Amino acid sequence: MSPPIDLTDQDEFQRRVPHDWFTWLRENAPVHWNPEPNGRGFWAITRHQDVVAVSRDTDTFSSEIGASALEDLEPDALEARKSMIDMDPPGHTALRRRLTPEFTRRAVADYELRVRHTVHEVLDAALPKVEFDFVHDVAATIPIRVLCDILGVPAGDQKLLIDLGDRMFGNTDPDITDVLLDSEASDRFRLLPFRSPAAAEMFEYGRWLAAQRLDAPRDDLVSHLVHGRAGAPPLRDRDFDAMFLLLVVAGNETTRSALALGIQAFAEHPAAWERVRESGGHELPLAVEELLRYTTPLHHFRRTATRDVVLHDTQIAEGDKVVVWFTAANRDDAVFDRPDELDVTRASNPHTSFGRGGPHRCIGEHLARLEIAVTLDELRRRVGRIEVVGEPVRVRSNFTNALRVLPVAARNS
Ligand code: HEM
Repeated sequence: MSPPIDLTDQDEFQRRVPHDWFTWLRENAPVHWNPEPNGRGFWAITRHQDVVAVSRDTDTFSSEIGASALEDLEPDALEARKSMIDMDPPGHTALRRRLTPEFTRRAVADYELRVRHTVHEVLDAALPKVEFDFVHDVAATIPIRVLCDILGVPAGDQKLLIDLGDRMFGNTDPDITDVLLDSEASDRFRLLPFRSPAAAEMFEYGRWLAAQRLDAPRDDLVSHLVHGRAGAPPLRDRDFDAMFLLLVVAGNETTRSALALGIQAFAEHPAAWERVRESGGHELPLAVEELLRYTTPLHHFRRTATRDVVLHDTQIAEGDKVVVWFTAANRDDAVFDRPDELDVTRASNPHTSFGRGGPHRCIGEHLARLEIAVTLDELRRRVGRIEVVGEPVRVRSNFTNALRVLPVAARNS
């Protein structure tokens, strides 16, 4: 019998990640119709192979009608809120190319010393306390510092950007925002990303920074975007707004989740942590991939069918919303042995946490890996035992798999 599956149930996602639902769906209804209380409903895609195929086939499964929002957007809202994540090639390709110099594997390798320095500072401040909130003191701090460094955001403004990003990503959590996504109050903000007033503040901040860098360019990403560089004309006005906002929310919240959920997982699996500690660092890349798979910081992205299409004998109609569930694909036993186990030595790990197969695959993946690897490496040297010593608080969201609070004790032995 089917469990009572409702993938729009934000309360359930706040309590837990419903892996049992996804297991049932993969086995029994790999293309599953999920009605929505305030929308037209969507098809949920849960098998690994299908998530990859849908992501790859941008002609049939378009991002142009909104990729990060499940909302049914009116044309004016769609236009006003569009960033490159809501575009198909070739428009998407041209915008994405402007970011590549900062995010290639080679460019990211050059950031290692800076990232290590940041991690040292953050751990030097947190670890002497022994008991602390890992989200606030460590996970939230590292990614934003690194990102601000790349963008050229002054250090004093990091907290503001964390707060704005939280309010956008937490738009379904009443403890984070006072304008809930499905509330009438959010109608006023329907032309803004995440239907959130915080997006207007983020735009305003981005424009202020862009103006500074237009006057006095530096060697940072915002300067490169507003002035343009070889083969890439300047990015201005709403194109700049959208890109700045996308970078801040995409590059910050996600890595924070991977770090916090990862530490929670290690607290629950001390043998895995012991293995990471003993690995001497050479197994670290495998542990990073496993952590990304096991935690899956973003649950899903959305596409829209551009034509009638049949998938597993199920008729999908032109205009239907199709949602790829990375969380489900990452536990597919057709691809992963013992998928529910945290195995930090897992050698084959084609997880979907950064997307897979399509043109939107996370551009920050190398940076995220570096941040996670360096944080684990430094923790491994300094922390013998990690315990969760209070109630973790999850964000109420079926989009971001995130913790707001994770009280831990991190001891030497
Ligand atoms: C663990 C951390 C991260 C996770 C789990 C993650 C996950 C994702 C996912 C699932 C996508 C969409 C993939 C698709 O639709 O195929 C994405 C896109 C994106 N990510 Fe990440 N991300 C992370 C870190 C970062 C970082 C550090 C940055 C740096 C700024 C970043 C920037 C972006 C951007 C700009 C896009 C849009 C790419 C496009 O549309 O072409 N992400 N990410």
